Amino acid sequence: MSNPLKGKSLVSLAHLSPDELHLILDTAAKVKKNPREYSTKFAGKTLAMIFQKPSLRTRVSFEAGMTQMGGHAIYLGPTDISIGKRETTEDIALVLSRMCYIIMARTFGHDIVEDLAKYAKVPVINGLSDFSHPCQILADLQTIAERRGKLKGLRFTYLGDGNNVAHSILFGGAIAGMHVSIVTPEGFEPNADVVKRSMEIAAKTGGGVNVTRSIEEGAKNADVLYTDVWASMGQEADAQRRHAHFVPYQLNMGVLKLANPDCVVLHCLPAHYGDEITYDITRTKNSAVFDEAENRMHAQKALMLLLAGAV
Ligand code: CP
Ligand code: NVA
Repeated sequence: MSNPLKGKSLVSLAHLSPDELHLILDTAAKVKKNPREYSTKFAGKTLAMIFQKPSLRTRVSFEAGMTQMGGHAIYLGPTDISIGKRETTEDIALVLSRMCYIIMARTFGHDIVEDLAKYAKVPVINGLSDFSHPCQILADLQTIAERRGKLKGLRFTYLGDGNNVAHSILFGGAIAGMHVSIVTPEGFEPNADVVKRSMEIAAKTGGGVNVTRSIEEGAKNADVLYTDVWASMGQEADAQRRHAHFVPYQLNMGVLKLANPDCVVLHCLPAHYGDEITYDITRTKNSAVFDEAENRMHAQKALMLLLAGAV
């Protein structure tokens, strides 16, 4: 297949076709298997990394990935460029486009990463916004495919907050033809428009989308069990109130017993052990949380290669 992603940005998975998603995942598997083949692809090239929020995996996976491909990454932290305060998003996008080959941004408002993509002359990658976390789900799908040999038709169940990660699971799972169940307490459902759009996508791919309060319904025969923190970055002041609603939705050994014996346990990390997930479940043979973290690097290397037209 020629590369339909060349010159594009990745702001949300919603805009990817099934072919484009599979191209990224196939490329990610090749990059992981044979990293040396790509070791000079970005020689002399720079990735700009804008962070409004903290990070371990996103920062290190992008930076290490760029280093492995012969390039360089610059970390621009919250106080370095004060996006929208010190200067406009438009001017930041235009200036970085004159010096950098790709821009990655972790933002609060999703509109900031959308504006970067609108104004930049180079590809922009969403490294997590309040709305979505597309790179995470690329790595998650790579991890599931490694463990289960396929994606289409699998039952992908997410327990907890209907947040940025849940939104990207809805889009990514639907595009991959999976049956996605989002299990949330009342008042913490994913964005209704995301649910509607992912249902429309699933109708075309043979997948399905379901939002429920029932852990039993979601976890029964699940092929993937996934959770994330109950208070995301930016919601720290509300953490205590939120906690009370989420306690019954913990991912633990009891929930795992309801699932398929080959179920893959995932968490994007960082984890709050004892809250949304127990430590013991992350150390079972079902758990792939550290493969998942490693795959951030492989999936994003593939993404950068494709958006830059380097493969
Ligand atoms: N999963 C993830 O994005 O981790 P960081 O917040 O550490 O980047
Ligand atoms: N939902 C979490 C994901 C962290 C990787 C957050 O936004 O903080």
